[in-house]
Amino acid sequence: MNRPVLWKNGMSDAPFVDVDRLTDGQARDLHALYRNEWWTRGRTLEATRTMLLHTDHLFGICERSSGRLVAFARVLTDRAFKAFIFDLIVAPEHRAKGLGSHLMRRIVEHPDLQTVRHIELACLPDLTTYYGRLGFSADVGGLLLMRRSDPR
Ligand SMILES: CC(C)(COP(=O)(O)OP(=O)(O)OC[C@H]1O[C@@H](n2cnc3c(N)ncnc32)[C@H](O)[C@@H]1OP(=O)(O)O)[C@@H](O)C(=O)NCCC(=O)NCCS
Repeated sequence: MNRPVLWKNGMSDAPFVDVDRLTDGQARDLHALYRNEWWTRGRTLEATRTMLLHTDHLFGICERSSGRLVAFARVLTDRAFKAFIFDLIVAPEHRAKGLGSHLMRRIVEHPDLQTVRHIELACLPDLTTYYGRLGFSADVGGLLLMRRSDPR
């Protein structure tokens, strides 16, 4: 939350544009971003399209000049008790410019999430400081993430 917003929607010379839905080309850009990250590698384009259809809220940043998706995050929510953030990813060449923080701010300020009791995410320990600056805490009463995986 500490970083200044680098652009505002409506600034005609801004290099980036916020989007809340993806074109098919941007779905392909997302699939390319997925190929680079350890937890998303191996996701197919077809399954990525299915995910995009069924996710409650999509948050993207595109290059104004090319339309290419360069940053992404998504949220599943019941709009009352829980919202969970998944897949925050910034393209490697655009990291450390504030794009990740900008997406996170858009998420926590989204009107549909203002009445939600808990906004949650899972991350590796090295990112707790990053998310801590955005208002998140690892103090969750000793909870652990548990998972049942499809054996296929
Ligand atoms: C983590 C990520 C989303 C941050 O986005 P970003 O746009 O580069 O970040 P911002 O510009 O908003 O903030 C930069 C700050 O984040 C810190 N940061 C970024 N990645 C970090 C990491 N893996 N561990 C610790 N700190 C990290 C930077 O050191 C920088 O700190 P500073 O402000 O003190 O200089 C981006 O690096 C990324 O896509 N990483 C790979 C995917 C990933 O791990 N996503 C998180 C899943 S939980």
